Amino acid sequence: MRSKARKHTGETLLDHMQAFGRDDIETVMVDLTTPDGVLWRSGAVIPAAPAPGEELGYLTHHRVFACLSGDCGLQEITPQRVSKEEQMRRQSHVEESNRRLDDGSERFETVIIGGGQAGLSVGHHLKRRDLPFVILDANEGIGDSWRKRWDSLRLFTPARYSGLQGWPFPAPAVSFPTKDEMADYLEAYAARFDLPVRTGVAVDGLSREADRYVVASGDRRFEAEHVVVATGANQVPKVPSFADELHSSIVQLHSSQYRHPSQLQDGAVLVVGAGNSGAEIAFEVSRTHPTYLSGKPSGQLPVRHGPAMARFVFPVIRFVGHHVLTLRSPIGRKAQPKFISHGAPLIRVKLKDLAAAGVEQVPRTVGMEDGRPTLEDGRVLDVSNVI
Ligand SMILES: Cc1cc2nc3c(=O)[nH]c(=O)nc-3n(C[C@H](O)[C@H](O)[C@H](O)COP(=O)(O)OP(=O)(O)OC[C@H]3O[C@@H](n4cnc5c(N)ncnc54)[C@H](O)[C@@H]3O)c2cc1C
Ligand SMILES: NC(=O)c1ccc[n+]([C@@H]2O[C@H](COP(=O)([O-])OP(=O)(O)OC[C@H]3O[C@@H](n4cnc5c(N)ncnc54)[C@H](OP(=O)(O)O)[C@@H]3O)[C@@H](O)[C@H]2O)c1
Repeated sequence: MRSKARKHTGETLLDHMQAFGRDDIETVMVDLTTPDGVLWRSGAVIPAAPAPGEELGYLTHHRVFACLSGDCGLQEITPQRVSKEEQMRRQSHVEESNRRLDDGSERFETVIIGGGQAGLSVGHHLKRRDLPFVILDANEGIGDSWRKRWDSLRLFTPARYSGLQGWPFPAPAVSFPTKDEMADYLEAYAARFDLPVRTGVAVDGLSREADRYVVASGDRRFEAEHVVVATGANQVPKVPSFADELHSSIVQLHSSQYRHPSQLQDGAVLVVGAGNSGAEIAFEVSRTHPTYLSGKPSGQLPVRHGPAMARFVFPVIRFVGHHVLTLRSPIGRKAQPKFISHGAPLIRVKLKDLAAAGVEQVPRTVGMEDGRPTLEDGRVLDVSNVI
């Protein structure tokens, strides 16, 4: 069944997934008719079967289609030949399928939750197939997830790999877009393809009622035959449980709240977490503040990040990510737990850049003593800011 499902998924959905550089994702919750008339009924083709409610992790860029419904197991999918009558019935069904119901709720054939790269890509492909849908996004503007990140952030992925299907990113192929250019691109992409995105709609419930899903946002209800959850992997800040014991005189920001060094007060800064966010932020704040970086990175890219890397090394990394370290290969499945449970390797700012900038690398932060952060080696740091 799996191999058959893959074969047919490839016919209908791989191009869709390749839109955002992913051919390892097989999570699609839509009914689709392949060009040769095979109807894929309901649900998701999911490469792994995680516990209900768990996020489904994928190996490249930590992009995740979360599984909120709690019903994420591998589902049997039955390919069926579709008769002409069925195709006509489906067509009229599609035409009827977006409407407002008497109780004020709205019905759509497909609801996509999240209008980032993943949600817009799915929307683009549904639109191309004339399948009706709506995209709901919590943010006030399309691209705001990027806009809200720190001011100096640039993508580490070159422009040639940062565009979505149908419209390449409008920048030189081996340049690295700023976070605002990325946000503007996403906004323009939705406008260009006239994608029906409703912003300011934070979904807070998803349940199954009889033969349909009910998507809730406050007192608004959307009924759908299919739901695609594309809410992203980096939307919920991860904050250590002891963070609220930090003394109130110390400025505390999560990286999602950090914009620029002027948010900090005078005195030393402890940056907790040597992932890419921690390394880039520590590097930036070290220009104005004595800086500690706590924790060990899970590796570093062994080449300098820049145009040459984008031209020659990035395609290789991408190939490995998409064709070798995927959930379809034993080596990919073996590596998956490590990939999803630890931070990504350092890409742009490396340990030697940090050392050269005067950042002191210290062990993991494990708790608080009298409101001050303590490290794994027992040291208590006297700092004015913690990020
Ligand atoms: C600092 C930082 C830098 C990054 N740089 C890169 C990079 O250079 N290259 C790269 O490939 N990746 C990068 N990433 C990862 C990047 O965010 C993802 O690759 C990409 O944005 C994932 O797209 P997405 O659509 O899955 O999720 P997101 O872009 O996170 O979009 C999810 C959307 O869902 C919406 N949403 C979430 N919950 C709800 C809800 N309950 N109701 C309604 N809407 C909801 C959000 O508002 C958001 O618009 C970076 C991540 C971070 C944190
Ligand atoms: N320029 C860019 O394009 C750019 C910039 C930043 C981020 N990103 C991307 O954004 C995504 C998120 O990156 P991120 O850096 O925010 O998160 P991340 O990759 O999850 O890294 C978080 C790091 O914090 C560590 N950590 C957690 N608790 C700690 C503690 N108590 N003490 C010390 N260290 C602790 C983690 O270590 P453990 O894993 O051991 O717990 C991990 O190394 C990644 O995909 C990344 O590549 C891109």
